[in-house]
Amino acid sequence: MIIPLIDLRAQYMEVKDELEGAMRRVLDSGIYIGGPEVEALESEIARFTGVRYAISVANGTDALTLALEAAGIGPGDEVITTSFTFFATAEAIVRQGAVPVFADIDPRTFNISPEAVEARVTPRTKAIMPVHIFGQPADMDALQDIAERHNLLIIEDACQAIGSTYKGRAIGSIGDIGCISFFPTKNLGGYGDGGIVVTNNEGVADRIRLLCHHGSRRKYFHEIAGYNSRLDPLQAAAIRVKLAKLNEWNDRRRAAAAYYSEHLQGLPLVLPHASSESSHVYHLYVTLYKDRERLTLELKRHGISTGHYYPCPQHLQQALRHLGYKRGDLPVTEAVCEQSFALPISPHLTREQQRYIMDKLMRYAKG
Ligand SMILES: Cc1ncc(COP(=O)(O)O)c(C=O)c1O
Repeated sequence: MIIPLIDLRAQYMEVKDELEGAMRRVLDSGIYIGGPEVEALESEIARFTGVRYAISVANGTDALTLALEAAGIGPGDEVITTSFTFFATAEAIVRQGAVPVFADIDPRTFNISPEAVEARVTPRTKAIMPVHIFGQPADMDALQDIAERHNLLIIEDACQAIGSTYKGRAIGSIGDIGCISFFPTKNLGGYGDGGIVVTNNEGVADRIRLLCHHGSRRKYFHEIAGYNSRLDPLQAAAIRVKLAKLNEWNDRRRAAAAYYSEHLQGLPLVLPHASSESSHVYHLYVTLYKDRERLTLELKRHGISTGHYYPCPQHLQQALRHLGYKRGDLPVTEAVCEQSFALPISPHLTREQQRYIMDKLMRYAKG
């Protein structure tokens, strides 16, 4: 049996008719930049996340970069973040001329540890950028407490976590600014790149809107030098079709994760932690195994795709060597990076596929 890590084709088949109708609607409209589809998606995401403003941009990386810029973070400022993330989190900080300061993670949730954050605050710290890794909310109460005491902003990297909640509040809406990616494999993905920034701060929303349209409010008049960072209406229309399904799809992901976790108990694997105060949306189902290389090769031999998240922590990336980190600086992050692997998960994964995966995994792990 061939089982991809994330089955985007099966997802497409579920919404094929609506999606093709939406694409036709945009193509027939003659409007290919901005317009009603983009505005409708922004309103729907604002409502979905419970914020006043949602500004669509070209991708999740731009969402982070523009959020930092709109928040006034620039050269010399420090932003405390996690090294256990996709590179874009740190890249956005570096692109602003600011300094990413990496704090270690909680070994159970793989999210940034509030104690480690507190220990890294300096007079130059301007913001905390937690990442809700794999769809699991970070410990927002503790982070907000630190932010309030030290007068710091919180910019949430919610790129992997749309639809998850922390104590009943939508992820992305808890900090000052939230950044979401519509990369195709995300729980709410387009058919190309896309992203959106959510916030209740009118000034930040206004600044991001200005920045992403070449610094212009009126055609051919430019207040500042900005960017061309826009979500196109074809993507917006496709994402709107999928947004209507998102809660149901996230429920299906949770059910698939529960099925794995129930049956994989007792094996020498560390299974994902599900906190009772938040709802994990299982963008990825990531487990730890001490000899992950051999296990994942064995699964591959049986047609099962897995992913190593992340093979290299961000503090040890060549691109960030100027920051001066070395192996051993973030021991929990480094240990997790050596052992973590993701099993296939999506709303479209069948129980039969899961049983096949678990059968192969158990034979190897027990043997
Ligand atoms: C945690 C995290 N941050 C940022 C990004 C960047 O998003 P994008 O690929 O849409 O630029 C991604 C995903 O790719 C991500 O997983």
